[in-house]
Formats: sequence, C-alpha cells, structure tokens
Amino acid sequence: MGKIIELKHPLVSHHMATLRDKSTEPHLFREQVRRLSLLLAYEATAQLPLKPIAVQTPLTTTECMELACRLALVPILRAGLGMSGAIHDLIPQSEVWHLGFYRDESTHQPVEYYQKFSDPPPDQAFIIDPMLATGGSAVEGINRVKEWGVKTCSMLCIIASPEGIENVSTAHPDVDVFTCAIDDGLNESAYIVPGLGDAGDRIFNTL
Ligand code: PRP
Ligand code: URA
Repeated sequence: MGKIIELKHPLVSHHMATLRDKSTEPHLFREQVRRLSLLLAYEATAQLPLKPIAVQTPLTTTECMELACRLALVPILRAGLGMSGAIHDLIPQSEVWHLGFYRDESTHQPVEYYQKFSDPPPDQAFIIDPMLATGGSAVEGINRVKEWGVKTCSMLCIIASPEGIENVSTAHPDVDVFTCAIDDGLNESAYIVPGLGDAGDRIFNTL
C-alpha cells in the first residue's frame, strides 16, 4: 500500500488559512499555492536517490552528491500549472510533461484533452494537481504515466478528500500521496469541503 503523507508543519497550517479564505485575491492565492508546493516537494523528494560526484572547492577536492534519477513533473492542466513552476525552480533538472483533464460538470468524470509524452520514460514522476476530489483525474493521470512506462509515481496535491485518497489507493496501491490537508469530504457537486473552491479558477482568475 502506498503511503499517505499529510504534512504537519506550522507553515503549512499558516499558508492553508490564506489559501482557503474566499477573500484571498488571485495573485496572493497563486503565491500561496507556490509556497505550499515547495513544502510538499521538500517532503516528496526526501527519498530521491543520490550518486557521488567529485567537486573542486576553492581549497580542495571533495565528494558531494547529486540526484541520480530522471524526475518528471506531470502537472494536470490547468490547476497543476500553479504548482509545477515552483517545484521546477526547486529541482531545475526535472522535466515537465503535461496532461490535460477537466471534470465533466454533471458526471464529475475526468475528460482528457491533452497528453504529450515521449520516449524514453523518466525514472520517477510526480503527478501534480492541487485538488484530489473524487480522485478520478488523479487515477487517470497516474494511468497515463504508468502506460508511458514510469515505474515510480507519487501524487502531490494541496487538498485531498478521503474519497479521493481511497480511490487512488485502490487503483494505484504503489503510489504515495503527499498532501497539505485531508479534508472532511465531498459535497453533492463533488467539491471538497471545507476546501478552497475551484482551484483552477482561483489561480487563473476565471471565476
Ligand atoms: C480540478 C482539479 C483536478 C480535478 C479534481 O480540475 O484541478 O484536476 O478537478 O477533481 P477529481 O478528483 O474529482 O477528478 P478542473 O476539472 O476544475 O479543471 P481545471 O484545473 O482546468 O480548472
Ligand atoms: N476541483 C476543484 O478545483 N475544487 C474542488 O473542490 C474539487 C475539484
């Protein structure tokens, strides 16, 4: 079974308050998404493999470490874009590959509209989306990444519902889920409660 990691950190709690607040303007909402994404990435990268490299300092040669895997960031459009830039800045050698899904408003099922992956697949992938609601988009996104040939996947989201976690864990028991908060559940429109509303609309100012 994959691990479910809910971040417990004062900065996460502090920034989540602003993110959830309905009066937070899009520019600050985007900044908070970036801050929380960095905290998530710090946790999600803790087990990345390293290899030794020789580095010449001004004084001597010493053994240092560098990342020893090809890591792909896979943001799910649109809202995942709000997170991937910050994580890409933190791990500049990571690759960014996009997947496009939107939720059908009546069925709440994910509708795929964009995928572009090329061979060979990377060693690991972080699937990135701020909201894990029913889990439909995440399950399909992870399906695509595994079909690509990626062996190790993690899901990074800012808010997860218990239903979404259950669906991802059932479909993909090998995938770890990193989240800043596990909320109470979903309402009749499959929105996360208490949640933050529509993440994509708040990031892109399209409410
Ligand atoms: C949101 C969110 C996830 C999905 C989560 O995207 O960013 O991709 O819904 O819901 P699920 O877990 O029930 O599948 P949305 O469809 O609003 O598209 P957008 O990012 O383009 O706004
Ligand atoms: N997508 C969102 O942006 N928010 C939710 O609460 C559920 C799906």
